[in-house]
Amino acid sequence: MVLPKSSIPLLFLLLLLQSVSWSASASIIDDFTQCVSQNSNVSVPFSKALFTPNNNMSAFTSVLQSSAQNLRCLEPSVPKPEFIFTPFHDSHVQAAVICSKKLGTHLRVRSGGHDYEGLSYISEIETPFIIVDLVKLRSINVDIEANSAWIQTGATIGEVYYRISQKSRVHGFPAGLCNSIGIGGHITGGAYGSMMRKYGLGADNVVDARIVNANGEILDRESMGEDLFWAIRGGGGGSFGVILWWKIKLVPVPETVTVFTVPKTLEQGATKLLNRWTQVVDKLDEDLFIRVLIQPEGKGSNRTISTSYNALFLGDAERLLKVIQASFPELGLTRNDTMETSWIGSVLYIAGYPSGTPPEVLLQGKPTFKNFFKAKSDFVREPIPETGLEGIWKRLLEEESPLSIWTPYGGKMSNIPESEIPFPHRNGTIFMIQYLALWQNEKEDAAKHIDWIRKLYNYMTPYVSKFPRESYVNYRDLDLGINNKSSTSFVAASAWGNRYFKDNFNRLVRVKTKVDPDNFFRHEQSIPPVPVTPSSRKRHDVKG
Ligand SMILES: Cc1cc2nc3c(=O)[nH]c(=O)nc-3n(C[C@H](O)[C@H](O)[C@H](O)COP(=O)(O)OP(=O)(O)OC[C@H]3O[C@@H](n4cnc5c(N)ncnc54)[C@H](O)[C@@H]3O)c2cc1C
Ligand SMILES: *[C@@H]1O[C@H](CO)[C@@H](O)[C@H](O)[C@H]1NC(C)=O
Ligand SMILES: *[C@@H]1O[C@H](CO)[C@@H](O)[C@H](O)[C@H]1NC(C)=O
Ligand SMILES: *[C@@H]1O[C@H](CO)[C@@H](O)[C@H](O)[C@H]1NC(C)=O
Ligand SMILES: *[C@@H]1O[C@H](CO)[C@@H](O)[C@H](O)[C@H]1NC(C)=O
Ligand SMILES: *[C@@H]1O[C@H](CO)[C@@H](O)[C@H](O)[C@H]1NC(C)=O
Ligand SMILES: *[C@@H]1O[C@H](CO)[C@@H](O)[C@H](O)[C@H]1NC(C)=O
Repeated sequence: MVLPKSSIPLLFLLLLLQSVSWSASASIIDDFTQCVSQNSNVSVPFSKALFTPNNNMSAFTSVLQSSAQNLRCLEPSVPKPEFIFTPFHDSHVQAAVICSKKLGTHLRVRSGGHDYEGLSYISEIETPFIIVDLVKLRSINVDIEANSAWIQTGATIGEVYYRISQKSRVHGFPAGLCNSIGIGGHITGGAYGSMMRKYGLGADNVVDARIVNANGEILDRESMGEDLFWAIRGGGGGSFGVILWWKIKLVPVPETVTVFTVPKTLEQGATKLLNRWTQVVDKLDEDLFIRVLIQPEGKGSNRTISTSYNALFLGDAERLLKVIQASFPELGLTRNDTMETSWIGSVLYIAGYPSGTPPEVLLQGKPTFKNFFKAKSDFVREPIPETGLEGIWKRLLEEESPLSIWTPYGGKMSNIPESEIPFPHRNGTIFMIQYLALWQNEKEDAAKHIDWIRKLYNYMTPYVSKFPRESYVNYRDLDLGINNKSSTSFVAASAWGNRYFKDNFNRLVRVKTKVDPDNFFRHEQSIPPVPVTPSSRKRHDVKG
């Protein structure tokens, strides 16, 4: 029966409106499940694949928190997804894209959940939103004969290392140092680690991929074309599609590698030694990677700065000592400081596991590092003078538990052209700095820590890269700017875009405009398409 509008009593209308908003989320879920079932050619076990606050709050919360690294992004005040979908099959991911698009629901994709600003599981710019969490898609097929592996993007980098090491003692892969990073977000942003000076980044060693595009199609390198294949290797996650698989090239590693950690406090001459490190580190033998972890230690009047030289050498201890003697004798390295191990042993060592930890720990896929934190990054092109370092010490000593990690460049990193892939921080970079403010308790004043790190970042201005002041996209920093819905978002994005990608930003925008002109894959710092109006459509078309 259809009633004329005027005859509906006001109270009834109010009740109706109320129930509409009350059931809004229920209907998104129903519409989504129905659409996904219709669009998947492999049936979806929804009881194990769909987590909503209404069905089971504790299961929903536990899945949401499972891989989230930054506790700051889990605070009650931070927006939560309508639901979390965990596909069991590639075609479920296709269906999720098709259905989110059809239903107009904003979608975020999560692999390992290590995003520094939580962009894989929160949206500050759009509600409602949903999460597609790839946690169940973690196959790894290593082919030693072919020197390659197909890896599914729900896997962690630690699992990739483990699977390679189970097949060979002389093969490895050059990517991140922290085993719980997800390869979906990691390789899309570059992926540096302890073999970068010899072999470049993870993204430099990708040879093929499978991706779900904004139309829900699965494409490989050949069908996506070289422009899109270029963009996904370093242009940042969440902009171009959902990567389902990477095909990576394995690299040779010696059966015996050597690791060491040499600590130096201020009293032991840390300032002079670190200044020396900034002069030589990019020129060292490319088999040698020495990073420095810097943080305050001790209490009260004993509080000092500790600098810890944490290294991997792709060779035995005897040759390492010769290399150090010839190029960085100031370190004072002795045979006793060093430990020979296998490549997979070095992975565990650098990740901080105690000696003797079985490599199976890498299969847990569990975050080893959960904190409230805010981080920033810099690239350095000139050695930092001792006075500059002293100003850093002063600031680090003012903060409760800060950490700064300095990562050496040079070697292979300098030999790869800036435009080879979107990651542009190459020749001329001596090292990268990461700054972190960390805290353990939600009751602490986050604003105070964030203010501290911003001031440290300001202090560093004269010592770091300029025009642009470069930043690493995988150390996502929303202080650099965020997209907004105004028509000038493209202009706004160039602020952070040039810092993350330098001149490659323009090509990323062209690729985005071609493959996702409606901006389906978007977040606070996704690559924006050039707004397409009918008359400008031709002009912005990318040729080839
Ligand atoms: C403790 C810790 C240690 C780290 N160590 C290193 C290191 O040694 N070297 C290094 O280079 N970086 C390091 N990082 C940074 C890390 O590379 C980035 O945070 C990276 O983005 C994490 O990937 P993820 O899949 O875990 O993150 P997520 O939070 O899942 O994703 C990050 C971004 O990528 C998108 N994304 C995720 N999966 C996909 C996919 N399949 N397809 C398309 N987009 C996707 C997300 O939507 C999001 O925008 C570290 C981070 C942490 C927290
Ligand atoms: C599922 O469908 C997609 C296209 O819709 C197709 O590419 C894929 O091969 C199908 N998978 C299976 C297992 O049938
Ligand atoms: C909710 O999920 C938890 C797992 O997190 C499970 O133990 C519990 O049985 C579920 N409760 C209901 C009512 O299904
Ligand atoms: C400083 O270190 C010394 C020697 O380790 C110790 O005796 C002293 O108690 C420490 N002082 C403070 C304030 O912790
Ligand atoms: C190295 O360690 C051994 C055993 O711990 C010790 O006997 C030796 O004196 C150390 N050598 C040096 C140079 O420190
Ligand atoms: C790197 O830059 C230096 C100094 O500008 C230059 O001399 C060198 O040729 C460059 N190396 C490569 C591989 O481009
Ligand atoms: C959106 O971006 C424009 C251009 O940079 C800026 O002027 C405006 O303040 C931004 N709006 C919001 C809400 O951030």
